This record gives sequence, structure tokens and C-alpha cells, in this order.
Amino acid sequence: MRVYVTRSIPDDLLARIASVGDVEVWDGDEPVPQQVLLSAVGSVDGLLCMLTDRIDAGLLDAAPRLRVVSQMSVGVDNIDVAACLDRGIRVGHTPDVLTGAVADHAFGLLLAAARRFGEGARRVADGEWGVWDPWDFLGVDVSGTTLGVVGMGRLGNAIASRAAGFGMEVIYSSRRETGEIGTKVSLEALLAASDHVMVTVPLTEETRGMFGAEVFARMKPTATFVNVSRGPVVDQDALLEALRGGVLFAAALDVTDPEPLPPDHPLVVQPNCLIVPHIGSATQRTRESMASLAVDNLIAGLEGGEMPAEVPGDL
Ligand code: DGY
Repeated sequence: MRVYVTRSIPDDLLARIASVGDVEVWDGDEPVPQQVLLSAVGSVDGLLCMLTDRIDAGLLDAAPRLRVVSQMSVGVDNIDVAACLDRGIRVGHTPDVLTGAVADHAFGLLLAAARRFGEGARRVADGEWGVWDPWDFLGVDVSGTTLGVVGMGRLGNAIASRAAGFGMEVIYSSRRETGEIGTKVSLEALLAASDHVMVTVPLTEETRGMFGAEVFARMKPTATFVNVSRGPVVDQDALLEALRGGVLFAAALDVTDPEPLPPDHPLVVQPNCLIVPHIGSATQRTRESMASLAVDNLIAGLEGGEMPAEVPGDL
């Protein structure tokens, strides 16, 4: 059996793959170029990949032996899952092991946006920290306010449980899921009632561009907007206008479109917009757990067993 791994992973995990077959690793600091990946998959049975790789029908056509695609992330919007399943290729991902880290991060972004951490840090670094002023640098409250969570899967639930600790009322909108905490409402009702809106939906054709000018106009002008899902769920031009025009108080984004967002993009310098570089799951322990689960999925799939986290056909 042959396996291609598109980014370096810990040696002990590589050794586990090596115990079932030959393994080749792309060890560049950047994602593997598509042309290199296209030629690498020509002879492999398994692929361990990252969210930065494009696993589309063209790539699958170049991989006649491929039986398992195991991705080291929970989101699989970079993979044409339907095309994989059509070809009998099983797809694995890494839910659960990252939920706590991403929920912590989402809450950090919410606090940072509401209490203006980014602007504050910039002011200090720029040497513009003047005398204490009772009416300067005012943010909006988090404790005791209403949090609207859009999408109520594992991550939405973990965010809701953190919100309970802040005495927040949680409302959520979700197509399929029911939350353990909070009240399910329509998206319209959520937008109108929330002091803070957090987006956790997966990127699909339905959610692409979901947050545009009309949606922002329905939110409170004192609201913050936090996106820990995928960049393309947001119309960034509309977000910029909303932040510039006082339609929204502030935003914090873990994800953008494209990634990386060019440093001269107007959102990067918009004072009430905080952007961090897609680091929701980036803790040592979480990334190691994700890599380990990706290897478990890969090996189980190659051996024809039950994968611990297989992407279902209806995702
Ligand atoms: C995922 O796993 O989909 C996350 O975006 C990684 O942080």
C-alpha cells in the first residue's frame, strides 16, 4: 500500500502509517502545489491531506488506486465528497478533538471584538496610550447579553455552554440540529435579538455568501459579528461597509476569503475588525490529536475497517 501525506506530521504518526505501507510526505513549508499533488496521487491508495489542498474530481481522476482520503480538519469543503463517494473513496475528518479549542478561541474573539482588544493593543504599540479617560475606548457588554449562534453542531453547543458561564441568554438557528442549551429561533429572529452573532455553519452551496448586506442590516448597530466557520460564508465587501457605516459595532474573523487575506485588504486596517490567521484549533495538544485521528481514519479505511470519524454521504 502507498500513502501520500501533504504536510509534515509527528514522526510517531508517520511510523504508524509506515507500518501498513510506504509513505511519502510533502515537507515544504507551503501547501503542496496542485501539480505535485496530481502526480503524487497517481500511485497511492491513501491520502492524508489538509484543508489547504484541493481534492476535486480532476485530482480523483488522476488517482485510480485511491481508496481513502483522510483530512486533518473537521471542515471538508475543500474536498468534493460526492465525487469521492461516487468512486467508492472513503473520506475521514477530525471532529470532536478540536471542539474545545475552537470554542475557546471563538469566545476569545467575541471578547476581543466587544472590548476592542485589537484597537487597544495597536494604540499602545503606536505610543498613543494617553491619560486614563472615563469615556474613552468604550466597548459593548458581553456578560448578561444575548448570544446568537448560527449553526448548532458540536461547536455551537460548546460555544453555548461557555456563554452560560457569562450569564448570556443563548438563541440559535440551525437547519437540522437541536442545541443542548438555548432556544431555537429563525435566523431573522436571531439577527434582530442578538447582541453578538457567532457563525459556526459549515461552508456549503447553501451557506456560501449567507452573511451579506441584508443580513447585517437586520442586526443591532451595537452588535458584534464573529466568524469561526469559513471565509466564503461572508460577503466581505458588505461586512466592510457595515463596519464602516456603523451598521455593526465590530467583527472578529478567524477565517477569510482568500486565506491569507492580503495585508492591503481594507478589512485588515478597519479599526473595528480583528482578523486572526485561521488558528481556531491551533494548540499543540489539539493539533496532535487531529493528526492522530487523521492517521486512525486513514489506517482503518485502508484496512477496510470502521473509521473513527468517517464523513457521511449526506454531509
Ligand atoms: C477545521 O478543522 O475545519 C478548522 O477550520 C481547523 O481549525
